[in-house]
Amino acid sequence: MADVERASDPTYILGHSERELARLRTQAALLEPVTRRYLQEAGITAGMRVLDVGSGAGDVALLAADLVGPAGEVVGTDAVATAVAAATRAAEERSLENVRFQQGNPAEMTFDAPFDAVVGRYFLPFQADPAAMLRGLARHLAPGGLLVFHEPDFSCVRSLPPAPLYDRACRWIIDTTRLSGQSWSFLDKVYPAFLQAELPAPTLRMQTFVANPSHARPWLWAVGDMVESILPAIERHRVATAAEVDVATLRERLLAEVTQRDCVVVGRSEIGIWTTVGQ
Ligand SMILES: C[S@@+](CC[C@H](N)C(=O)[O-])C[C@H]1O[C@@H](n2cnc3c(N)ncnc32)[C@H](O)[C@@H]1O
Repeated sequence: MADVERASDPTYILGHSERELARLRTQAALLEPVTRRYLQEAGITAGMRVLDVGSGAGDVALLAADLVGPAGEVVGTDAVATAVAAATRAAEERSLENVRFQQGNPAEMTFDAPFDAVVGRYFLPFQADPAAMLRGLARHLAPGGLLVFHEPDFSCVRSLPPAPLYDRACRWIIDTTRLSGQSWSFLDKVYPAFLQAELPAPTLRMQTFVANPSHARPWLWAVGDMVESILPAIERHRVATAAEVDVATLRERLLAEVTQRDCVVVGRSEIGIWTTVGQ
């Protein structure tokens, strides 16, 4: 299935092709240690019942299933059938019995029992009204339940000495996302949503990717993968032409540039934000 089936926000630009689900899995390997740390510090522990929102290929739900163990339970949700099918397959391949996936918008769904925690990664920036989403999700929590998100921020990306192609590729991602009505700026969208939803003051954490040429490859490949996923939108919004992007060679050109110029690249920031509701 191509990108016809979309999440509830019609501006969602990443799509749900098999290629995009594979990109989410590759990205998940990079993000896993950070998400694990945020979930653990927020208080996700054995025996909890957890709702994962915007599960995609299922990686956060599988991580949560590991943390809550056999005595706990995880329900993953996604608006899109292909994502739910891929996530269900991933759980089956691991013979996990404490996680299942359901299709739908989690703010509008009903569940048979309240949750101890709602978790999500790379989810809130894609919502048309993230404050309404947070209010809707808080309804699913038992008293004292946790709302825990790991969200991206592109405000700090840069290179030193400058790597012009790297800087341009990051701008393609940032500008195309903005022109599609979304924002990669945590302080523009996600944090204000917590205030608007009148949730208790959240705890915040941040980790930013930074590397010299010897260690930059995983992140540069992730940049190439993102650009490839949003290439139709890049062209539609006239941010760059397909010839300029030359996606087939982009990753190698990024690495060659950073290596030849001996640059340090600063990448995306991974932000943890969580709060306890209704204590
Ligand atoms: C960028 S992906 C992240 C997937 C996963 N959380 C991860 O980190 O690997 C965002 C996912 O959220 C889903 N999504 C976005 N808005 C949604 C909504 N309102 N209801 C249900 N799913 C939604 C999309 O379909 C997509 O699969």
